[in-house]
Amino acid sequence: MKLTMCIVGCGGYARNVLGDIHDMTDEFEFYFASRDIEKAQQYSEDFGGVGAFGSYEEAASDPRIQSLYFFTPHDTHLGNVKLAASHGKHILIEKPIARTLDEAQEMVRIARDAGVKLMVAENYRFLLTVDKAQEIMSQGRVGDSFGELRQIELQAEGYSHPTEWRKSAEQNGGGVFIDGGIHFVDIMLRLGGFPESVYAIQPPQLFTDVEGEDGIVMTARLSGGVPAIINFSRSTPIREKPPMVHLTGTKGKLSFVPYGRELSVETLQVRRTVRVAAPRRGVRQMVSEFRAAIEEDREPVMSGHEAIRDLAIVLAAYESARTGQVVNLSEPQS
Ligand SMILES: NC(=O)c1ccc[n+]([C@@H]2O[C@H](COP(=O)([O-])OP(=O)(O)OC[C@H]3O[C@@H](n4cnc5c(N)ncnc54)[C@H](OP(=O)(O)O)[C@@H]3O)[C@@H](O)[C@H]2O)c1
Repeated sequence: MKLTMCIVGCGGYARNVLGDIHDMTDEFEFYFASRDIEKAQQYSEDFGGVGAFGSYEEAASDPRIQSLYFFTPHDTHLGNVKLAASHGKHILIEKPIARTLDEAQEMVRIARDAGVKLMVAENYRFLLTVDKAQEIMSQGRVGDSFGELRQIELQAEGYSHPTEWRKSAEQNGGGVFIDGGIHFVDIMLRLGGFPESVYAIQPPQLFTDVEGEDGIVMTARLSGGVPAIINFSRSTPIREKPPMVHLTGTKGKLSFVPYGRELSVETLQVRRTVRVAAPRRGVRQMVSEFRAAIEEDREPVMSGHEAIRDLAIVLAAYESARTGQVVNLSEPQS
């Protein structure tokens, strides 16, 4: 089945993603929608689209469109879902699912009631490095050089001043953690499970014109007392360097760059490299999964429920940073 998909919101990241997926013409027919018809026409021309719309409503109501992939600011996500669902269209929406759990739960409910699929475009779910780490951890592969999980450390630091709607806590739903840091929360969740509690501190703000935080250090207590640390910053005055994931086990340690092609597996005796045929960002696999979930009429990987779990951790970190207290967590409802 070829799925007609309208790209909604012709901004920076939509251009980025289309660079990766525009040639998937066996699976998709792409349309483009913008509040500015000329922008939609330009994207359609640049990426081999078959049509363009000058409003989101026009796209959602067009009978040729089966699904909408939204690339818009976070305060518009709930409205996007209402619009698409009211026209019976399947929904792929960029991360984070929403700004609050109430918004996110409403989105899940609306999609469920309308009988349409809702998937959140968390491309880190589709990274082969994380798949391989999970395989090594769960099966004791590579000469059983990992053992039991003892600690997770994720470090993602860079220097990138938020602009436009990202400077507004209201539109963004927070600062850099809900925006970029949520990817690393997703890796932690996948490799270590849902935490029992979190504690977070924000370093002194460098970008004082940005309402939300420009960096955060979150520690989480995972099942069995395993600690996880995420150091996520956009205000570290260094040249961009790749994020790192370190997983310590009872028998060795795994380290990798999420977008990379290899994992380092180190023990007291040896250090070796395990390669993966890494897709750069996992975006192609992500859109294929969305199409397959529609075709097979099943929940997609990275369903609304999965995305709510990521969001709950981010929001708990915000609460902890605000109150200075440890925040206990339980599995959120959806
Ligand atoms: N997975 C990732 O790694 C990743 C990376 C970056 C961004 N993202 C996500 O992608 C989404 C879009 O981010 P972006 O970086 O592409 O943002 P952006 O460059 O600012 O583009 C957002 C687009 O949303 C549309 N829009 C609708 N209502 C708007 C409003 N009130 N204010 C401003 N724009 C509005 C605009 O498109 P039109 O003018 O065409 O209507 C605008 O071009 C967000 O959810 C973000 O978190 C994900």
